[in-house]
Amino acid sequence: MILVKTLEELQNKLNDLRSLGTIGFVPTMGALHKGHLSLVEKSATDNKTVVVSIFVNPTQFNNPKDLERYPRTLETDLKLLETTSCNIVFAPNAREVYPEPDTRKFNFGELETVMEGKHRPGHFNGVAQVVSKLLDMVQPDKAYFGLKDFQQLAIIKSMVKQLELPVEIIPCSIVREDNGLAMSSRNELLTAEQRANAAFINNTLSKIKEQKGLKSVEEITNWAIETINKNPFLTVEYFEIVDDEQLQPINNWNDKKTMIGCVAAFCGKVRLIDNIIFN
Ligand code: PAF
Repeated sequence: MILVKTLEELQNKLNDLRSLGTIGFVPTMGALHKGHLSLVEKSATDNKTVVVSIFVNPTQFNNPKDLERYPRTLETDLKLLETTSCNIVFAPNAREVYPEPDTRKFNFGELETVMEGKHRPGHFNGVAQVVSKLLDMVQPDKAYFGLKDFQQLAIIKSMVKQLELPVEIIPCSIVREDNGLAMSSRNELLTAEQRANAAFINNTLSKIKEQKGLKSVEEITNWAIETINKNPFLTVEYFEIVDDEQLQPINNWNDKKTMIGCVAAFCGKVRLIDNIIFN
């Protein structure tokens, strides 16, 4: 495994490797956990070369405090990646990614007006900016993203379509801690007590499956919000049951679309997201 920090080094290295087989790409913001490592291994099964980027992208943070607090653990990340099938780690600085400020404004229509888009204005524009730049730098055949960030995945697929990028986007399953908490870099910011209580989010989501059909979508939505909020460590920002393509609210269980329950909740100052696919 090699570490490169500039675009020039990255492209020199990739020029040698591209003729040997396909390139798989796992973009990350570091603070790696088993969820990221599973993306790396999936990418290694599908491709000859695996590139992982580590870059905390400032343009996707709508809250400067959140950007400041975001864990940065490059040394530990590199050690973890050494244990995987990663071939190249690309860890650029902000000037390398944004030699000029990125003023592009994407339009994702109704995809960006709900849930994360509604609560984190500008977030997805920043994600689209950085992911399009990284895809342009790496030019991978396939790029891997976790299903925990379900809306991000939908946005990235739309961005790839709009820009006609020659890359296949591969969604990968959520990896959970033993207690059910979805793995996230932000979990590092939780105390042991908060971490134990944060598992209650997934715990509640799993119970919805049992109630589906017995109660209306509205009743279940209210029940999930009230149940999570009863845990003194947690405060729900939103919980919505939406379709898995346009992410628009579902009103009726008879709807033929695949449904997904998406939640964002604060555990102390840490904002966590999770979801459950119903059918
Ligand atoms: O999901 C993330 O970690 C980030 O949003 C991504 C895709 C690496 C872009 O910065």
